[in-house]
Amino acid sequence: MAKKAPQAQLLTLRIAFLHGLTLVILVSVGLCVCVLYRLHYTQETLGGSSMVPPRSSTSRPLVQDFEGPPKIAFLFLVRRNLPLDFLWGSFFENTDSANFSIYIHSEPGFVFDESTCRSSFFYGRQLSNSIKVKWGESSMIQAERLLLEAALEDPANQRFVLLSDSCVPLYNFSYIYNYVMASPRSFVDSFLDAKEKRYNPKMSPVIPKEKWRKGSQWITLVRKHAEVIVDDEVVFPVFKEVCKVCMRNLNSPLKLKRHDCISDEHYVQTLLAMSNVEGELERRTLTYTEWNQSATKMERRSWHPVTFTYASAGPQRIKGIKGISHVYYETEFRTEWCRVNSTSAPCFLFARKFSEGAAMRLLSDGIFGSFDARSLIEMTA
Ligand SMILES: *[C@@H]1O[C@H](CO)[C@@H](O)[C@H](O)[C@H]1NC(C)=O
Ligand SMILES: *[C@@H]1O[C@H](CO)[C@@H](O)[C@H](O)[C@H]1NC(C)=O
Ligand SMILES: *[C@@H]1O[C@H](CO)[C@@H](O)[C@H](O)[C@H]1NC(C)=O
Ligand SMILES: *[C@@H]1O[C@H](CO)[C@@H](O)[C@H](O)[C@H]1NC(C)=O
Repeated sequence: MAKKAPQAQLLTLRIAFLHGLTLVILVSVGLCVCVLYRLHYTQETLGGSSMVPPRSSTSRPLVQDFEGPPKIAFLFLVRRNLPLDFLWGSFFENTDSANFSIYIHSEPGFVFDESTCRSSFFYGRQLSNSIKVKWGESSMIQAERLLLEAALEDPANQRFVLLSDSCVPLYNFSYIYNYVMASPRSFVDSFLDAKEKRYNPKMSPVIPKEKWRKGSQWITLVRKHAEVIVDDEVVFPVFKEVCKVCMRNLNSPLKLKRHDCISDEHYVQTLLAMSNVEGELERRTLTYTEWNQSATKMERRSWHPVTFTYASAGPQRIKGIKGISHVYYETEFRTEWCRVNSTSAPCFLFARKFSEGAAMRLLSDGIFGSFDARSLIEMTA
């Protein structure tokens, strides 16, 4: 009996210790959960959006992880709001939401909701980690990378269409969906331009001169190529380092002139060339841009796309754009006959730059079938 007493004491001590330990562990776990929740909550409130911040590429879901139809991710790269939201709203109306997703990169803190946007398809779709973009600089391609990164999080997203705030669709949803899905290739306008001086020798040897490419920023990608861009840790830092918009300083011409490589027209094209996937591309853009042909030689250096207005977006003009079947690449003497999976197809699914008036005209001329003005009134009400 006497022997057992210390043992029993020891046992009670042990039990007390274990209880204490359990309490400490429980409290720690509780604290951790609280801290994690707070972090998450703060991130959400700061971002002003309900979207989850993207994870790193290592945790990206596998393509086979999804069920249901493949989606097109529509990636809107905008300055602030979406002036043509009413047209896109009509485009997405009556389509199965299982077939598409929307992501927007706008200025940090801008929120898409009832007060800033006329179509609920865009509510809360702004990236929570958006950055301040300087047009033409590497921050612009970083914004594109952020859009692709966020969209890759959803394994159902199989095609990625980059759009600006002045882009319009030229066809209804089902036509565009079937066109883009039928192609196992990305649509990336990409060409050589020997006369162009945008390549900077400082980029060598990371970016070899013979891989330097140029082309429209408005791309449509398959998942594999979107991953190449998001995972790139080699080419982007060089663009970031070397490409700055040149400040022409006439007063002190000796001042170090920074190099303007026009990142947004070279980065994706050059990276894909360096990744040896040019054979997996339709080397053309799906987005029509009209350039002012009447500009003089002097003005050509600052060539600007024509902006379509209500008056210039009439049915004949739009029909003309939709009828284009090939594109000629002057610098390569290459004619690109537009094809989708080896079948002839119209070259362009989208067009820019469209004013609100021009977009209104498209709707009233019935670009998506018969137009019902009531839907517009409902949307703007
Ligand atoms: C979509 O557009 C195509 C071609 O313009 C047309 O053939 C088709 O009937 C339209 N589909 C719907 C659902 O309106
Ligand atoms: C969209 O998804 C549904 C199934 O959820 C499918 O029946 C339909 O054909 C798809 N395609 C288009 C273009 O809407
Ligand atoms: C492309 O065309 C081939 C041959 O006609 C066909 O077998 C294939 O399914 C098509 N691919 C897509 C993605 O539609
Ligand atoms: C094209 O450029 C010329 C000369 O700069 C200008 O007068 C004209 O208005 C422009 N046209 C369009 C459609 O922007």
